Amino acid sequence: MTEKLLFADIDEPGLHTLGVYERRGGYASLRKAFSMTPEDVLAELEASGLRGRGGAGFQMGKKVSFLPKGSMEKYLVCNADESEPGTFKDRELMQKSPHMLIEGIVIASYAAGAQRSFIYIRGEYVLQADVLDAALAEAREAGFIGEDILGSRHSLSLVLHRGAGAYICGEETALLDSLEGKRGNPRLKPPFPANQGLYQGPTLINNVETLSTVPVIIRMGGAEYAKLGAESSTGTKLVSVSGHVQRPGNYEVVLGTPSREIIYGLAGGPPEGREVKCWFPGGSSAPVLTAEHLDVSYDFDSLAKAGSMLGSGAIIVVDDSTPILDVALKVAKFYQHESCGKCTPCREGTNWTVKMLQRIELGEATPMDLEIMASVQDHIMGNCLCVLGDAMAMPISSIISHFKEELEAHMERARLRPAETLVSA
Ligand SMILES: Cc1cc2nc3c(=O)[nH]c(=O)nc-3n(C[C@H](O)[C@H](O)[C@H](O)COP(=O)(O)O)c2cc1C
Ligand code: SF4
Repeated sequence: MTEKLLFADIDEPGLHTLGVYERRGGYASLRKAFSMTPEDVLAELEASGLRGRGGAGFQMGKKVSFLPKGSMEKYLVCNADESEPGTFKDRELMQKSPHMLIEGIVIASYAAGAQRSFIYIRGEYVLQADVLDAALAEAREAGFIGEDILGSRHSLSLVLHRGAGAYICGEETALLDSLEGKRGNPRLKPPFPANQGLYQGPTLINNVETLSTVPVIIRMGGAEYAKLGAESSTGTKLVSVSGHVQRPGNYEVVLGTPSREIIYGLAGGPPEGREVKCWFPGGSSAPVLTAEHLDVSYDFDSLAKAGSMLGSGAIIVVDDSTPILDVALKVAKFYQHESCGKCTPCREGTNWTVKMLQRIELGEATPMDLEIMASVQDHIMGNCLCVLGDAMAMPISSIISHFKEELEAHMERARLRPAETLVSA
C-alpha cells in the first residue's frame, strides 16, 4: 500500500527552492513546533513510534530522550553517508526536497536541546551536496537557521560536511571520528553517542529519512502518524528497489505492505520469463530471502521473524539467471574491501571468505570448505567492534543455508572442468 508523506510533493518542479517549499506548506511544522515546548515536541516524536531509517531501527524519540538534560553543548548529526549497497532514497530526498531535511533537523535540535548540527554527506553525492549548500544559504537568509530562530530563543548552526567515500564512515561512531578530522574508525560502545559523541559531547545521530519525517510527524501529530503501518513499525518507509526488476526506483510504502506488492506491484517484478531467485530486503548486509518469502509483510518485525531485516529499506532482487556464487562473491568482496581492519574476525574473516568463494569458483574446494566457511561466519557474528563484519557474515550465512545444493553442484562442475576454462571473478 502506498501513502505519500515524504514523497507527497517530491516531483513538484522547484521543490528544492525555499519559495516552492514554503508554498507547499514547508516550515509550517517548524512554526508549530516553536509554539510548543521542547518536551511536548519530544512527546510527539515518542508517540509517533518512528524507528530510525538508517539501518538499526532504533526508536528516534527514545534516542532523543537519552540525551542528558542541562545546558552543556549538545550536537545533532545527520547521517547522509548512504553507503549501504542498493540504497539511494536519501539521495532523492536531499536532491529534491532539501528543505524538508533542514526543517526536520531544526525541529529535532529544538527537542534535543542541541545548538550545533552537521550533515555528513557521502563524497560521491556532489550534486546533492551542492543542492543542500544552496538550500542552507536560503534557510540562513530566511532566519530558519542561526541565532534566535523565528524569535524562539532557540539557536542552531548547521554545517554541511563532505565525506571521502569510505563505507565505514556511515557507521555512526566512525562518522564522528571522521567529522572530527580523524581516520574514520568505529569507537568502542559504550559510551554511546547520546552520552559521549562528537567532541565528547552528547550527540543525537539520525539518518536523512528519519529526520525528514520529523516535520510530517509534527504536522500530523505523533498519535495520528502511529496509526499508519504495522505494530511497532509505524508510518511509511522509502524503499529503494534495484536489481532484476522492470521498474527500479524509490517507492514510499506503508510499513506492513506485503513484499510481493512492492517487488511485483510497484517495481514490476523480474524481466519476462524470469523468476525471483533471492532478494535482500534491507541492503546487501541483510540475510537473503527467497521466493518463498515474497508474501512476508514488509516491516521490521515480520522481516526479522522471516530471518532477515529491514535495514536501510533497500530491496535488491536477484533473478534465476544469476549463479548464487556470483552474488556471494560480490557481497563478500565489498565488505572485504571496506573493512577498516581494526578487529581480527572482520579483517581476516572477510578475507578468508573471499578466498574460499574463489576456491569454489576455481574448482579447488571440497564440501567441507562450505562447512568451514559457514563456521567462519559464525565466528565473525557478534565478535566485532562494529557490525560491518556481521554485515558480510549474515548474507553469506543465509546464502550457504538457502543455496547449499547449488554451491555444491557448482563445486563439482568446476572440479570437473578443464583448468584453462576457469576464470576467477
Ligand atoms: C558499517 C555500517 C555502515 C552504516 N552506514 C550507514 C549509512 O550510510 N547511513 C545511515 O543512516 N546509517 C548507517 N549506519 C547506521 C548508523 O550507524 C546509525 O545507526 C544510524 O545513522 C542512526 O540513525 P537512525 O537511527 O535514524 O537510523 C551504518 C552502520 C554500520 C555498522
Ligand atoms: S567490524 Fe570490521 S569495520 Fe568494524 S571495527 Fe571491526 S574491522 Fe573495522
